[in-house]
Amino acid sequence: MNELHASDILIFIGFLIQIFSVFRLGYFAIMRKDVIVSTRIIDRIMTGVIFVLIIFFAVFYYIVFFMHLDSLSVSLLLFFGSIFVAFMIHWLINITLSMKKRCIQITGNLVGIMENLDPRLDGHSVHLAMLMDVFYEYLPIRYKNEINPENLKYAALFHDIGKLGVPTEVLTKPGKLTSEEWELVKKHPELSVEILEPMKSFDPILGWIRYHHERMDGKGYYGLSGSDIPVASRMMAIADTYSAVTMNKSYKPSRTYEDGIMVVRLAAGSQFDPELVDVFCNIPKHRIEACGDYAFRELDRVLKKI
Ligand SMILES: [Fe+2]
Repeated sequence: MNELHASDILIFIGFLIQIFSVFRLGYFAIMRKDVIVSTRIIDRIMTGVIFVLIIFFAVFYYIVFFMHLDSLSVSLLLFFGSIFVAFMIHWLINITLSMKKRCIQITGNLVGIMENLDPRLDGHSVHLAMLMDVFYEYLPIRYKNEINPENLKYAALFHDIGKLGVPTEVLTKPGKLTSEEWELVKKHPELSVEILEPMKSFDPILGWIRYHHERMDGKGYYGLSGSDIPVASRMMAIADTYSAVTMNKSYKPSRTYEDGIMVVRLAAGSQFDPELVDVFCNIPKHRIEACGDYAFRELDRVLKKI
C-alpha cells in the first residue's frame, strides 16, 4: 500500500464517519424532547447550524477523496477531525439522555418523599409513573406516535399534586361525601394544573392532568367524553384505578393484581376506554406487579437516607 492509497483510505473513512455523524445529529434534532428537557428556539437553530456544517464537511471529505491528496499528514488531520466530530455528537446525545433519566429519578424521588408524608397519597404517583411506562410500551403504534413517554411519566408523577390542597379529612373520609366535600375533591386536577402552570414547559401535559378523571360516558369532572378525552388522560384513568385498588395504604389494605384487573375490566366502556383497557389488561402480570415492587423499593431506599 503506497502513501497515496493510505491517504485515500483515511479520507474515505473520515467521509463515512461524517455521514454517520449527520445521521446521529439528525436523530438527535428530531428526538422528542420532554417537559424537563425542552428546547428553546435558539437551541434548535444551533442544532440546525451544526447539522448543515457537518453536511458541508462530509461533502468536502468526498471531494478531497477524489482529489487523491498526496499528503498523509493532512489526511490524518481530516480523519481525526471526523472522529472528533463524531465523539462530540455522541457526548452531546449521551449527556442529554442521561440528564433526562436523572430528572425523572429526582422528580420521582421528590414526589415520593412528599407523598410519604401524606397518607392520602403514599407513593401512589410513583407507582402510577412506573405503570404508565409499561403501559406506553404496549400501546398501539398510532397512540405511541402522539405521546412522549417521558412526559407521560411526569404527568403521572404530578397528576394528584393538587390533592395537597384538599383537606385530609375529606379525602380520607370513610363514608359518603357531602356535595360540598365532593366539590372540593373534584377541584384537585385543576389545583394540580395551577401548581404546574407557572412552568411553561409543562404546557403539553397540563391537559392530560386536568382530564385524568374524565369518563368515556361523559360523567367525569369536566363532562368530556370518548375521544375528546386526551389518550394520556384515558390511560392514566385506568392505571390510576388499578394503582388505587392494589396499593397498600395506611388506611386500607392492598388487593391483588386480579382484583385490580377485574375492577378495571368492569368499568370498560362506561368509565374507561375499552380498547385501552384491553391493552392494559393484556400486559403480562409480572410486568405490572414489578411496577409496584420497583416503585416502593426505590422510595424506601431514598426515604431511609433522609
Ligand atoms: Fe386524581
